[in-house]
Amino acid sequence: MTNKQFDPKALRAAFGSYMTGVTVITTMSAEGTPIGFTANSFTSVSLEPALLSVCPAKSLSSFDVFANCERFAVNILSEDQQHISNIFAGSKEDRFSQVDWHTDEHGNPVLDGVLTHFSCKTHNNIDAGDHIILIGEVLDFATREGLGLGYASGGYFSLGLEREAAEMSAQQQQVHVGVIIEHQGKVLLCTENGKSSLPYTLTDDNTSAVEAVTALLADNKIHAKLGAVFSIYDNPKNNNSYIFYRAFADSEDIGNFNNTTDNLNNPVDSSSLTHYVALDQLSAQTYTTPALASMMIRYAAESKNGMYGVYVGHNDSGKVH
Ligand SMILES: Cc1cc2nc3c(=O)[nH]c(=O)nc-3n(C[C@H](O)[C@H](O)[C@H](O)COP(=O)(O)O)c2cc1C
Repeated sequence: MTNKQFDPKALRAAFGSYMTGVTVITTMSAEGTPIGFTANSFTSVSLEPALLSVCPAKSLSSFDVFANCERFAVNILSEDQQHISNIFAGSKEDRFSQVDWHTDEHGNPVLDGVLTHFSCKTHNNIDAGDHIILIGEVLDFATREGLGLGYASGGYFSLGLEREAAEMSAQQQQVHVGVIIEHQGKVLLCTENGKSSLPYTLTDDNTSAVEAVTALLADNKIHAKLGAVFSIYDNPKNNNSYIFYRAFADSEDIGNFNNTTDNLNNPVDSSSLTHYVALDQLSAQTYTTPALASMMIRYAAESKNGMYGVYVGHNDSGKVH
């Protein structure tokens, strides 16, 4: 049998290209402490009997608890629970003190507001490299209408909001697609005559919003990973529609922005300046429109706790989801 060595980063990226939902796996330790971790390795296995599986890594601090637990629960996160995924993937503090939860009749901790939960008794577990496959028999479950949180290539997505953005692009011939490019606590702004805006482009009949923003980054030689939608709104007065995405740049390089020569290498007037501005300076800037100003102030505020909502509505009124 061959045991081929792969570049772990490349293998992780290849596995990560498979789009999944996000769950939090929970159990009660022998001392009665709730324990949990974020997992996207959840899979339904069998209907009769009702079995499911998840793969805890041997590197988890809670691995021994999950490897020996008699019961556990799978909590499928809803599309507005990205912050819960982050807590159960990263937080070193008491994870359960940061969320609402209850104990179900089988003694499993269940997170409030999840889309679905399965309360299980351990069927068996199988050793599998640096993980185990933990198989649970479903004792009970509850599910509700709604959409789950999505995860693909290291980023979260919300199907509901992506659909909304896609519908807007389909209805309108041209959509203004902007991008909030972040790098280490700074955001790329374009400032002209003292007023700031974000890099943006327009869609056309053949390009979706995601394609347009991806091309905007590529054309300007910005190496950045595209994130989730941050804001979707229209302006009924001028009939324009706007979609803003988040993106994460590899460096503070501003790429082709601020080019002082045109395509033929002739000098051009560069009265506009594209530059990185610290998050805590965003609210002090003057923006080209009030809608942009309130969006950037919300961005600065939400970046403090890393919980980003999505604004959907009009330029002057709407709702943050
Ligand atoms: C979206 C997502 C999916 C994850 N899926 C798994 C998984 O299936 N199995 C696993 O062991 N860890 C998974 N992790 C990583 C664990 O959540 C993380 O390593 C764990 O919470 C660390 O806990 P610890 O600090 O107590 O060791 C995932 C993380 C994220 C963000």
